[in-house]
Amino acid sequence: MYPIYSKVSSEKNFFGNTDPVQLSEKYGSPLYVYNENILRKRCRDIKGLIDYPNFNVNYSPKANSNLELLKIVKNEGLRVDAMSPGEIFVALMAGFKPDEIFYICNNVSKEEFLYAIHAGVKISVDSVSQLELYGKLNPGGKVAFRLNPGVGAGHHDKVKTAGQKTKFGIEMSQIPDVKRVLENYNLQLTGINQHIGSLFMDGDAYLASSHNILSVATEFDDLEFVDLGGGFGIPYRKQENQPRLDLKDLGGKLSELIRSWVKGYGKEIEFKVEPGRYIVAESGILLGQVNAVKTNYGLKYIGTDLGFNVLVRPTMYDSHHDVEVYRKDDKPSMKQETVRIVGNICETGDIIAKDRNLPEIFENDIIGVIDSGAYGYSMSSNYNNRLRPAEVLIETSGDARLIRRRDSLEDLVRNFIM
Ligand SMILES: Cc1ncc(COP(=O)(O)O)c(C=O)c1O
Repeated sequence: MYPIYSKVSSEKNFFGNTDPVQLSEKYGSPLYVYNENILRKRCRDIKGLIDYPNFNVNYSPKANSNLELLKIVKNEGLRVDAMSPGEIFVALMAGFKPDEIFYICNNVSKEEFLYAIHAGVKISVDSVSQLELYGKLNPGGKVAFRLNPGVGAGHHDKVKTAGQKTKFGIEMSQIPDVKRVLENYNLQLTGINQHIGSLFMDGDAYLASSHNILSVATEFDDLEFVDLGGGFGIPYRKQENQPRLDLKDLGGKLSELIRSWVKGYGKEIEFKVEPGRYIVAESGILLGQVNAVKTNYGLKYIGTDLGFNVLVRPTMYDSHHDVEVYRKDDKPSMKQETVRIVGNICETGDIIAKDRNLPEIFENDIIGVIDSGAYGYSMSSNYNNRLRPAEVLIETSGDARLIRRRDSLEDLVRNFIM
């Protein structure tokens, strides 16, 4: 393989004992590749965020719920959140104990609540209406609620999950209603959680919302935990040397806030955070193959198999991912040019990287989409009846191991009644 443009992956020795060309040939294209060392490192970073004895990290598997990755996260001592019965099911399969699973649900049915209650996991409700339903189903039970602390954050309006323009959480003015329903059904409020949004690169909003949640927590005597949420960002523009989120600074301020609040509360209750992206994004690179190169009305298009069914973030949120280029032969790129990297889906919005200045790219080159471990495979689909890719793990030894098979054509028709 010839690394034409590969600074980020080379510096991390991302592909271990193999390389993107070998991997694509062996496992097919497109292909998600994960690096175990990076995943473990990120788990450890975030476990060290807060200096307080009763602090735990719940990984949010909506970012990536591959079973093998969940097992690694568990092995690093993290716990887990779940957003659906499916996520509870997979978390149990990965070996998490029910009390290590926190079900943070949103607008769920009676059946979903019953699934979670019978599974024995911790449950948080997202509205007074859902608290009422939960109370009817599990009177005398334990419950938490998701607060909307009035402050949101995130890289796009679609992922700001607190503040005044979002469906999430219970606003602070409704706390008296929460208390009334808790009393009516004799429920024990064990925790309060929040999640203000996804991908913040400075901690100001997170810190402000943490102050708010703690002011509400003070109103309840028997709490066992407060969960401050996820959303910790990662630098998606590494090729431009974007700085990292300053975890040390944020962690220091959070630790101070927690320690002083705990003194006033009089009990060392548990504090949690619930990151998804921070843990897995950088451990993933999506590989795809260049199938066609053409110019349309002055714009050069690099046509790949990386449709938005495989990675939807650029189409859905206008997200930026750095890209790399790897070549099967030693043909040199003679120039730099501005190109648009597109997929194979029949929609104009099917763009993986918009107008990038890259070394000249040819048919059969392999493209690497950096930092695609979070909200990549987990948001992929069979749109256009395309097959979802395989997933491969580069283990700590540097060797590659298949951790999910590529879909087959039979998978596409499995649920048809024939
Ligand atoms: C309730 C909740 N917790 C945690 C997360 C994880 O967010 P992130 O991956 O940005 O850390 C999300 C994502 O939207 C969420 O909705």
